[in-house]
Amino acid sequence: LAGDEVLVVSNREPYIHQQTANGIEVARPASGLVTAVEAVMRACSGTWIAHGSGNADREVVDKHDRVPVPPECPEYTLRRVWLSKEEEQGYYYGFANEGLWPLCHIAHVRPVFRSSDWEQYVKVNRRFADAVIAEARTDDPVILVQDYHFALLPRMVREALPRATVITFWHIPWPNPESFGICPWREEILAGMLGSTIIGFHTPFHRKNFLETVDRYLETRIESEASTISYGGKLTQVEPYPISIAWPGTTEVSSESQSECRANIRKALALPADHLLGIGVDRLDYTKGIIERFQAVERMLELNPSMVGRFTFVQIAAPTRSSLDEYQSFEARVRALALRINQRFSNGNYMPILLKAEHHDQYQLNRYYRAADVCMVTSLHDGMNLVAKEFIAARSDEKGVLLLSQFTGAARELHEALIVNPYHIEQSADALYRAITMPEAEQRERMRSMRTLVKDFNVYRWAGHMLLDAARLRKRERVMQ
Ligand code: G6P
Repeated sequence: LAGDEVLVVSNREPYIHQQTANGIEVARPASGLVTAVEAVMRACSGTWIAHGSGNADREVVDKHDRVPVPPECPEYTLRRVWLSKEEEQGYYYGFANEGLWPLCHIAHVRPVFRSSDWEQYVKVNRRFADAVIAEARTDDPVILVQDYHFALLPRMVREALPRATVITFWHIPWPNPESFGICPWREEILAGMLGSTIIGFHTPFHRKNFLETVDRYLETRIESEASTISYGGKLTQVEPYPISIAWPGTTEVSSESQSECRANIRKALALPADHLLGIGVDRLDYTKGIIERFQAVERMLELNPSMVGRFTFVQIAAPTRSSLDEYQSFEARVRALALRINQRFSNGNYMPILLKAEHHDQYQLNRYYRAADVCMVTSLHDGMNLVAKEFIAARSDEKGVLLLSQFTGAARELHEALIVNPYHIEQSADALYRAITMPEAEQRERMRSMRTLVKDFNVYRWAGHMLLDAARLRKRERVMQ
């Protein structure tokens, strides 16, 4: 693919310009997708097309709505697409996040499908497709389409640029055909996605669900062995590509030594130097199992009174999609539960749960990762979950224990984590106790093996696999033309 043009399209932009009291500041969103794709874009330059969501975004773009990024040392172009309130409401909050998000995560929140949201979703997919087509300088670019916001875009782009290679990566799970069948526009979604040359999922299981869904609802020819779907005279390859993080993590690591970091974080939290610390890092989203995690902390303290006053769990929860009712009531439940548990066990200054419901940058997160004895990832369902991998990458001291939900893509790779079913509170409580009492030698052995895996299967491998497969298919298509 050397010399080929690369375009990325995603809803969330990697840099958000905000007006603040100190002038315009740049923020990085809390998004696994952005973390992963940014690393790739820095390496291969090109153009990233995304929704301009910051209140000062318009002030820094040129007349084509483009801005070079990263702001401190530009390596690629960010092209912003502006959405009206109505478009954002229907396409992003409505169809994508009240419809497709709960539909694809089996998290027992009923998906909501409104015709008016669907209309905006179609319209915004068209607008982003037009932006991709306008940005393309060649007739055969490589286009990387990100996530459930753009299921219709691959076909739209392909109609205008038949020689383009469209790689669509679905960052969230794919449910079974019965569940997906709830969506009133299931055929349109599937046909839109099949405009792609390649469709990627995190796990073989999600790929299988997708192939079965297509088989159920569309007239296609599926070659299960080769994992291809032929639809309307076009061939789509469907593959698992487990996403990962950049390794080494470069810029965002503090210069403190591991032991300084451990001590400083405890001091900042007003905790004794030998206090045991757990950490959770999530968007404040109902799929992340934060309630179940707090219940496990409570149960662990109940079963092990010696840990009361000795163990504190810090939950960092980045606010997300907060204008949706479901997210507001989730936040209220999380806050109420933390309060109840804290009241139950509080003693002097001691509180077992510290809930920090605000955005933290990667530098701050890395410091917490390095200072913690255990990191809890208890998603009820998650495509991959990059927090698990970020925690491992931060632990160059080879200490710390990862407690990981069996319902994450990450659990299929990180076998040395303590794997739990987050619905089973008793089991998670036991695993938490085991984590904070685990001998150092065992921690080291587990951490070392997980670090080797994350280092080898880093995000460049993820992108490399997809791009190599794309190069192979491009060559084949050119031979056949
Ligand atoms: C998940 C999705 C991403 C999304 C991110 C943050 O990781 O797969 O597409 O960007 O959550 O959510 P937000 O709605 O704030 O972009």
